Amino acid sequence: MDHFTYIDGQLHAESVPLSRIAEAAGTPTYVYSTATLVHHYRTFADAFAGQNATICYAVKANSNQAVIATLARQGAGADVLSEGELRRALKAGVPAAKIVFSGIGKSRREIALALEAGVGQINVESEPELELISALASARGAMAPIAIRVNPDVDAKTHEKITTGRKENKFGIALARAPEIYARAAALPGIEAVGVAIHIGSQLTELGPFGDAFTLAAGLVETLRGAGHPIRRLDLGGGLGIPYRDETPPSPADYAALVRETTGHLGVELVLEPGRLIAGNAGILLTRVLYVKQGTAKSFVVVDAGMNDLMRPALYDAWHRIVPVVEPAMGAPTAAVDVVGPVCETTDIFGHDRILPMLECDDLLAIRSAGAYGAVMASTYNTRPLVAEVLVKDDALAVIRARQDMAELLAMDRIPAWLGDESQ
Ligand code: LLP
Repeated sequence: MDHFTYIDGQLHAESVPLSRIAEAAGTPTYVYSTATLVHHYRTFADAFAGQNATICYAVKANSNQAVIATLARQGAGADVLSEGELRRALKAGVPAAKIVFSGIGKSRREIALALEAGVGQINVESEPELELISALASARGAMAPIAIRVNPDVDAKTHEKITTGRKENKFGIALARAPEIYARAAALPGIEAVGVAIHIGSQLTELGPFGDAFTLAAGLVETLRGAGHPIRRLDLGGGLGIPYRDETPPSPADYAALVRETTGHLGVELVLEPGRLIAGNAGILLTRVLYVKQGTAKSFVVVDAGMNDLMRPALYDAWHRIVPVVEPAMGAPTAAVDVVGPVCETTDIFGHDRILPMLECDDLLAIRSAGAYGAVMASTYNTRPLVAEVLVKDDALAVIRARQDMAELLAMDRIPAWLGDESQ
């Protein structure tokens, strides 16, 4: 359920017409709905009521501090994977104890920062990383609470580019080697191995792979406890899918029931890291039609958003619903068009053969389900400034990230002295 609906023939975010946002903030602009973010968070958190679970929102999905703060006010923790994400989560008011620091390539500086901040858990993805955390923690006289991320070699049955839990993926430590690594962790100074972590992929639309992975992780907890390791936490990662088109992913309630079924007997504290589920359908990308172009084989609607603003279609062949901001009248004529951006790449296409009303220059379109892995993955390719982000709450709107200033973007390049100042 989301709060992007037509009211009196105009698409609204909650009570705010998207046309008003286009006037206030320009286009392209990401628009997020507070009520939708909160609804998704609450649905997920409520599904885990009665299980000892901390919901650590995966900040990578949408790391705007206003979004993180909205969720933090609901009690969310954060799953972060870089210094920048850690700083954003702290600034947005997430208590350090509720922050999990994941990621396969944490730098020394990032580990030191995580220790200094006192994060609740650092997920370790390799033996050299474990050794480094031990060295840095013991040098500070601290104990690092860690979980080892194990790779259960389970096929998440999702897009190949977002599956993470197979043995050929770079993530985690092979399940079979885990007992040896925990024994090493127990012997190292500055390390307290509090848990086991897994994450098998993203946009999963079936429970089966989760069930397989959770069962393997639960088995590992028992093995480790049997070997004398006081494992008290199980981090099950994120990955529950959302409907983009006609997918019917499992409900949070069914997912939570599966977690209880597979891990309930352990009496562990659970950590869950949903990202897309919370933010995905809480955002749209608002864009304006620049041209309608009749090609020889196809018609193209050229919009002002490009693949640099929303990479998912180009990168993963992702399908995003595209809808007009003005609701078409019943029975109004339609056409099949390709909706394309201005970037000089053939893959800069948001949708093939979409049935849309007859569009004209300056019409507004909304690219749906763009709240997760949208703005965060944007780039300035083709020297296109990063777009604005707007958060709506009821009838109020706030620009939560200003459109990047062109002059600032250009000023980041420096001309070396040997080129003289002819270019100035
Ligand atoms: N935890 C870990 C360790 C992760 O690597 C991820 C996502 C999550 C949690 C959150 O997963 P979610 O609940 O959002 O599925 N850019 C891709 C998705 C990449 C996901 C990376 N890891 C996309 O646009 O589909």
